[in-house]
Amino acid sequence: MKTLQRTLSIIKPDAVEKGAEGDIISTLLNNKFRILGIKMLQLNKSQAEGFYAVHSSKPFFNSLTDFMASGPIVVMCLEKENAIADYRKLMGATNPANAEEGTIRKKWAESIEKNAVHGSDADDTARFELSYFFAGYELAK
Ligand code: CMP
Repeated sequence: MKTLQRTLSIIKPDAVEKGAEGDIISTLLNNKFRILGIKMLQLNKSQAEGFYAVHSSKPFFNSLTDFMASGPIVVMCLEKENAIADYRKLMGATNPANAEEGTIRKKWAESIEKNAVHGSDADDTARFELSYFFAGYELAK
């Protein structure tokens, strides 16, 4: 039996500022991800801190949360078999200097912080991250 999995995707402020949303969404659809929910919004600083709470002790936390609150973002619930790992592969390495050709970060990211997109890294983080942005009724069946 095929098991579908869900993951949270964010198109970050740097990529939205560049107008990369359409290209990134096309890439997702071309790679067989279903978009069950999608919205554009702007986080405030405390909402960005809540989302990235797992990184609160890191030296880059303050700068990362300032950046994530600096402009509009697009959040999506993606569904596919093996969605978490497949989306991380499609995004490319966190640091675009190490991202492979053909990945979203290779094309759009400018630095390890302004790295265009986010994706959940495991089942439990995907559950937390999806519930941070979407109520159940906001997702397509
Ligand atoms: P993301 O996949 O959203 O998960 C955590 C984010 O922290 C990461 O992408 C980067 O944007 C950011 N990040 C990770 N490591 C560093 C770093 N060394 N310096 C600055 N930002 C970082």
